[in-house]
Amino acid sequence: MTLAVDIQDLRTRALRDLLAHLDGSVTDQWPEIADSSAPDFADPVRAELERDRVFGEVPFIVAHSSEVTGRGQFITADLPRNNVVVIRQSDGGVKTFVNACRHRGAQLVTEDSGKCRLFSCPYHRWSYGTDGALRSVTLDNTFGDFDRSQYGLVELPTEERHGFVWVIDNPARQIDVAAWLGPEMDAIMASYGIGDLVSVDPHTYRRPANWKIMQDGFLDNYHVKYAHPNTAGKMLHTNAVALQDYGRSFWFLTARKTVDQFIGQEVSWSPEMEGHTIESCFLAPNSMLLKHATHFELLTFRPVGADPNQSIMQMRIMAPSVQDSGLTPEHWAKRWEKNWGLLIAILHDEDFPILDGSQVAMNSLDTGPMLLGRNEIGSHLFRRMVDELLATAPAAAAP
Ligand code: FES
Ligand SMILES: [Fe+2]
Repeated sequence: MTLAVDIQDLRTRALRDLLAHLDGSVTDQWPEIADSSAPDFADPVRAELERDRVFGEVPFIVAHSSEVTGRGQFITADLPRNNVVVIRQSDGGVKTFVNACRHRGAQLVTEDSGKCRLFSCPYHRWSYGTDGALRSVTLDNTFGDFDRSQYGLVELPTEERHGFVWVIDNPARQIDVAAWLGPEMDAIMASYGIGDLVSVDPHTYRRPANWKIMQDGFLDNYHVKYAHPNTAGKMLHTNAVALQDYGRSFWFLTARKTVDQFIGQEVSWSPEMEGHTIESCFLAPNSMLLKHATHFELLTFRPVGADPNQSIMQMRIMAPSVQDSGLTPEHWAKRWEKNWGLLIAILHDEDFPILDGSQVAMNSLDTGPMLLGRNEIGSHLFRRMVDELLATAPAAAAP
């Protein structure tokens, strides 16, 4: 079977484009400049549509598989429509449940992560299997009869693929991650082998900014040297992107300054080039995956309910396990601690204040029209994808 993408060829073409861009101080561009208006980031009606037509309709990543490895291991997450628990099943699969007791709605699981054999409700002690089935009703001789098979935990469509757990935040939908990614991005993700890595200390941040402001901020190669003059701006080029559009998701290459030694040469991709570029994937609708020579980073963004002013950002580092790395546990821990430190210094300390401030600004009623430049191609594609989803009326729920 031939893969939908020849990734070596993709990398070589992108590398050559990137070197030509750097040589001419240009970048891949969108056909035209676009309007960028504040209500897109502050309007509660639009936010409600995004909650339902984006997160209630299409698959997005909620965990790396290694965060729920053993039977009964779980994490909880605040998704836009539901607070959920994601748990490893005894058959090796993963299920996601709305984290609400079917008696009177107490929150079943309050920890961020853990391991359990049974969900036991803290209010009246009903219990559920890790498969979501209602197992026991306390004092059931007085409670009254009902069909227990109808009162298991509500399950959300969940699929494990390419090392990640994907969910659609709507029990009435069916999930097909490969179809959503499309054949090219599915092949690229398969080639990465992220399922063989482990997620090192995932970080979750609640931010006072619209999820699209956050996502835009991390698709943006235009701000690097201006917003990060003493950190990322020293190492990375600004405003130079070679991008491949796959319909909803896209792949792109950006440059470290060390790539300059190859400008003017007809180079082909080789593993050495990993050290001079950054390969990234935008995984629609809300994630950015960065490939580094030794590891991957995943940044995900989602709204808090239908609040246009609040989002949750998760950052993950996926790296070889201690055993696979050949490092001592101490050295391994130190290495990734250092990496987290660098990531936080740039994203948390430098990007967050700017992006939080954007949200404050967007809530002004008289901002005037704003612009998205032709050079901001990733954000144009992100908008195209969200706008398409918002324009699509949801299918009727299955009977
Ligand atoms: S609300 Fe859970 S047992 Fe009553
Ligand atoms: Fe930044």
